[in-house]
Amino acid sequence: MVSIPKTKFNDLSLVRQGKVRDIFDTDDALLMVTTDRLSAFDVVLPDVIPDKGKVLNQISVFWFKQMESIVKNHIITTDPGDYPKEFQSYADALKKRSMLVKKAEPLIIECIVRGYISGSGWSSYQKDGHVCGIQLPKGLKESDKLETPLFTPSTKAEVGDHDINISYEEAVKIVGEKIASKLKDLSLEIYKKGAEFALTKGIIIADTKFEFGLLDGEIILIDEILTPDSSRFWPADDYEPGRGQNSFDKQYVRDWLIDSGWDKTSPGPKLPQDVIETTSNTYKEIYKRLTGENV
Ligand SMILES: Nc1ncnc2c1ncn2[C@@H]1O[C@H](COP(=O)(O)OP(=O)(O)OP(=O)(O)O)[C@@H](O)[C@H]1O
Ligand SMILES: [Mg+2]
Repeated sequence: MVSIPKTKFNDLSLVRQGKVRDIFDTDDALLMVTTDRLSAFDVVLPDVIPDKGKVLNQISVFWFKQMESIVKNHIITTDPGDYPKEFQSYADALKKRSMLVKKAEPLIIECIVRGYISGSGWSSYQKDGHVCGIQLPKGLKESDKLETPLFTPSTKAEVGDHDINISYEEAVKIVGEKIASKLKDLSLEIYKKGAEFALTKGIIIADTKFEFGLLDGEIILIDEILTPDSSRFWPADDYEPGRGQNSFDKQYVRDWLIDSGWDKTSPGPKLPQDVIETTSNTYKEIYKRLTGENV
């Protein structure tokens, strides 16, 4: 079992390091590598969770395929044997946790869809009954299922900043009416298909974020899709409106971190071995449930 905290491919050009992913540039493509780093409360913890990166990467691969009838995506190949030659000596480490993707021009809004009211949507509703300019019925409880999923875009913040929720009209100002309307339709369609499928496997996808880009004038799906990093995954058998829900992937580690008395500032604490193992197994279980296969 190879765990990857950081990619140490010194001869390759790392163009971006997110909390979880490392991205390398080749001439006309990007290599996206999902590491086993875990972030909780926005802090990257010092330990890695074995196979987590593989699970996240393979979940995206799974959904990209499922959604091909709705929208094209950025994948060129997920077979390290077909990657450009500078990556060949790392083929083993890259297996299952990476994808070579077409470089697109990212459209600079985050396409969020909410099927349930939670997080910043819930905060905003409590203040004035609206989410991203959309008026919602009175009397909703936290985590309630919405009558129909909502498209609630946000700005795409620079590293370190927080995204800001915007109205559809503001999204139109950023990307134009034609593209905004297409992004909305695509986002809602992908979410509905994914959430419906996940629910048959006992997973509620409460909300999610998509990113799209332009390639040769065409809108394609980029980044990651319907993973526990870009979405809220809730175990359906534990769902109860009127409170916050447990997160399918991170609850165990979050509970441990809260009990540990950690003040949520960097650096995070070291995790006990059993917490690491339970968390790793939870990620693997999510993958198995969704796809029926072992990662
Ligand atoms: N096919 C693509 N073409 C161009 N840019 C892409 C493509 N796919 C993803 N990206 C961009 O790559 C970046 C992925 O970054 P990553 O998810 O690692 O970090 P982040 O979103 O800044 O931070 P984090 O996810 O850790 O909070 C995003 O800016 C995304 O828009
Ligand atoms: Mg990201």
